[in-house]
Amino acid sequence: MNTPCWTMPRRILLILAVAALLTGGYWLLQEVGPPTVRAGTSLGGPLPGLTPFELKLFDKGAATFDHIWTRRQGLGPAYLEPACNICHSTPVSGGNSTIQVTFFGTLNSDGSFNSLLNEGGEVLQQVLQFPPPCNLGGNEVLPPDATIVASHQSPQTFGMGLIDNIPDASILANAIDKGMEVHGVANIVLDENGNQRVGHFGYKAQLADLLQTTAIDLQSFIGITNPISPTEDRPNGKVIPPGCRTVREPNDDGTRMIEDFHFQVYLAPNAPGVGNANGQALFTSIGCALCHLPTYTTASSVIIPVVWQGRSIESKALENQPVNLYSDLLLHDMGGVLADGLVEGLATGSDFRTTPLWGLSTRLASGDGILHDGRAKDVAAAIAAHGGEAATVVGNFNALSPQDQADLIAFVSSL
Ligand code: HEC
Ligand code: HEC
Repeated sequence: MNTPCWTMPRRILLILAVAALLTGGYWLLQEVGPPTVRAGTSLGGPLPGLTPFELKLFDKGAATFDHIWTRRQGLGPAYLEPACNICHSTPVSGGNSTIQVTFFGTLNSDGSFNSLLNEGGEVLQQVLQFPPPCNLGGNEVLPPDATIVASHQSPQTFGMGLIDNIPDASILANAIDKGMEVHGVANIVLDENGNQRVGHFGYKAQLADLLQTTAIDLQSFIGITNPISPTEDRPNGKVIPPGCRTVREPNDDGTRMIEDFHFQVYLAPNAPGVGNANGQALFTSIGCALCHLPTYTTASSVIIPVVWQGRSIESKALENQPVNLYSDLLLHDMGGVLADGLVEGLATGSDFRTTPLWGLSTRLASGDGILHDGRAKDVAAAIAAHGGEAATVVGNFNALSPQDQADLIAFVSSL
């Protein structure tokens, strides 16, 4: 072990003080208090039908999702927040927040995307964990050659286990010409085992599955390296002086990674509100449902790892389940107004994965804003920003009577 830059008591004191300042002590209570009791059907609770063992995995995972990482455990060197539930927080752990992650890059001379890895891309991690004398010349900043800069708002993660188990083939079957100019494309990406998969997660469907998404968020946003994402992000690409490394790599041997995954995989989706029958019919007839596909069904066999590269179990609760997500999980060209310039696999700078609309009622209630960068405060503003492939459907919406428009918005807002 190398000598830490700080003595431990001072470090802990500072972390406690900052946490207390920021949250009025809430996180501290979370850390030391009894495990949160989560009712079966409430938001933030587990899926129905879990076995007692799966419920245990969910509870343990929930505590890990709320865990505040410390430098002694490997936090950083460059990171954004020290816990999953700081970004995924509203109104309960697994929810959304206004915290945005900034991605940057530039275009190569041949027009291809360059994520500026050598300069610390493509995620900007503004917080640096190393104090003097280990400092690396200040926090990570946008390099001058970053010509593309985009912010993505922290999304909700309710119901992610259901989405994770939608078969690739079901998504591919929808990547066809649907009429009204709608033609989605599946993002084809590599999963944690190097296999080609249909991207399920991320604003650009750039992540194959839930375990990979969990591992990459853990490393890129918290700085905890793990077996799936083992490489530390170097702040602006600078080499970390050897004396500043105090923790084994990877920081997590896969235990916490799998626990975070268990919380996500068993987390129930939001239960929709009363809806509006006319609005629901219009949602289909004018073409919203061509992209915001109301439902998929999960695979007939679902295996969940209990430990990393070890024992696994079958999960009946996740098999053959309807997933009423209101998304085809495909990429669509949304036009210049929404374009953020980021290229991820097959996703171009103006392509986005259709955002699942389930949980929208709680996102609207949070007031945190919707769309990938939180720019829209309500459904009408979100529809107005849709362009590109959605232009014909938006035209259909604009041609509706004010009453029909209000009904459609009422339906969507109830999800
Ligand atoms: C700094 C804020 C932040 C932290 C910390 C964070 N996330 Fe995220 N998370 C995001 C953002 C932003 C995205 C969307 C990324 C994108 O696609 O551009 C995201 C995406 C996700 C998704 C995919 C959601 C979807 O609809 O596709 C999951 C699942 C997820 N995070 C889980 C986690 C877990 C588990 C942790 C802790 C290990 C975590 N996150 C930590 C901000 C955060
Ligand atoms: C061509 C496919 C397509 C069509 C048609 C379409 N959408 Fe979307 N929708 C998307 C995509 C892709 C996004 C994500 C855009 C972003 O975040 O920049 C989105 C985002 C949204 C959001 C924001 C969700 C959130 O939480 O951020 C709402 C609300 C929405 N759409 C409603 C509608 C309604 C209502 C209609 C019909 C009038 C419609 N959409 C038609 C693809 C489509």
